[in-house]
Amino acid sequence: MLEDQIKQLESDALVRIQAAKNPDELETVRVDVLGRKGSLAQINIGKLSPAERGPAGKALNAARQTIEAAFEARKEAFAAGALNERLQAEWLDLSLPAPGPRPGSLHPVTRIQTEIEDLFTSLGFAVLDGPEVETEYHNFDALNIPAAHPARDMQDTFWLTDGNLLRTHTSPVQVRGMERLGPPLRMIAPGRVFRNEEVDASHEHTFYQVEGMMVDRNVSVAHMNYFMKTLLSAIFHREVTVRLRPGYFPFVEPGFELDIQCLICGGPGCPVCKQSGWVELMPCGLVHPNVLRMSGIDPDQWGGFAFGLGLTRLAMMRYVIDDVRLMQSGDLRFLRQF
Ligand code: PHE
Repeated sequence: MLEDQIKQLESDALVRIQAAKNPDELETVRVDVLGRKGSLAQINIGKLSPAERGPAGKALNAARQTIEAAFEARKEAFAAGALNERLQAEWLDLSLPAPGPRPGSLHPVTRIQTEIEDLFTSLGFAVLDGPEVETEYHNFDALNIPAAHPARDMQDTFWLTDGNLLRTHTSPVQVRGMERLGPPLRMIAPGRVFRNEEVDASHEHTFYQVEGMMVDRNVSVAHMNYFMKTLLSAIFHREVTVRLRPGYFPFVEPGFELDIQCLICGGPGCPVCKQSGWVELMPCGLVHPNVLRMSGIDPDQWGGFAFGLGLTRLAMMRYVIDDVRLMQSGDLRFLRQF
């Protein structure tokens, strides 16, 4: 029976359509079954009697429609599968915030420098600047350190071939301040200084200091202590344990070293405090009469105090940074923390 043959053909075609593993295999099935020379086209109803032809033609059309529908459905399934695969591969989370430009931040040294400038400005001090390439006179001679003086060896100096040098401390700005402004004088001078140092966790060849100086009538060690304590409690927002030791600097007399108890280890000792529990933070003293005199100030009329603050070291203490080399590493992972 032709109609049985049609039924068989239809069910075979449906099985093959379902079995097609990809669009190419499906296309092969389509050509085999529905194509112009395909199995459906080869069924010849022309030879049938007119009475048989009608039902057979209907059955043939129905089979063609069923097969075509199955074919379209399978084709769509392949297309949907391909789309899904692409969506999986090109998946994008649009709810994630865009990275955008990162906000910058101030270097820890800059932060503390700015705070110190604000504090001392409020106390009536001028903020002065001086050159990083200094004359031998301003860096040494005018600070009571003449050429043959052994104190020159306290500071390993980068000399330039023209006889100038990279300033080893901010103290030359004291001299420039006295020369330029005269007494009475209240000034600080933050800035970068250089020493020919072996670099390790607590020594850098390039670091920052803040110089402080006050010249007025009857200035004593008590005034100096007052300003240094005001400074330290403003920076650390708490009481810090300090000690004052005698210290020698040719440009002060008497001279002291102000140490603070190490804020990294709290006293027992660590690499930053060289296992001593104390960190030298502020050398200071009363301005030596020779220094005043050399800058044109009469030591019988005026007196003063001066201090030098290790700004880099202070930043390390406040932010609990245990290696000075991080400060100029340029490492953004470090800098973004501030
Ligand atoms: N300029 C000195 C130094 O860097 C520190 C200092 C400053 C000492 C002011 C006394 C007074 O070593």
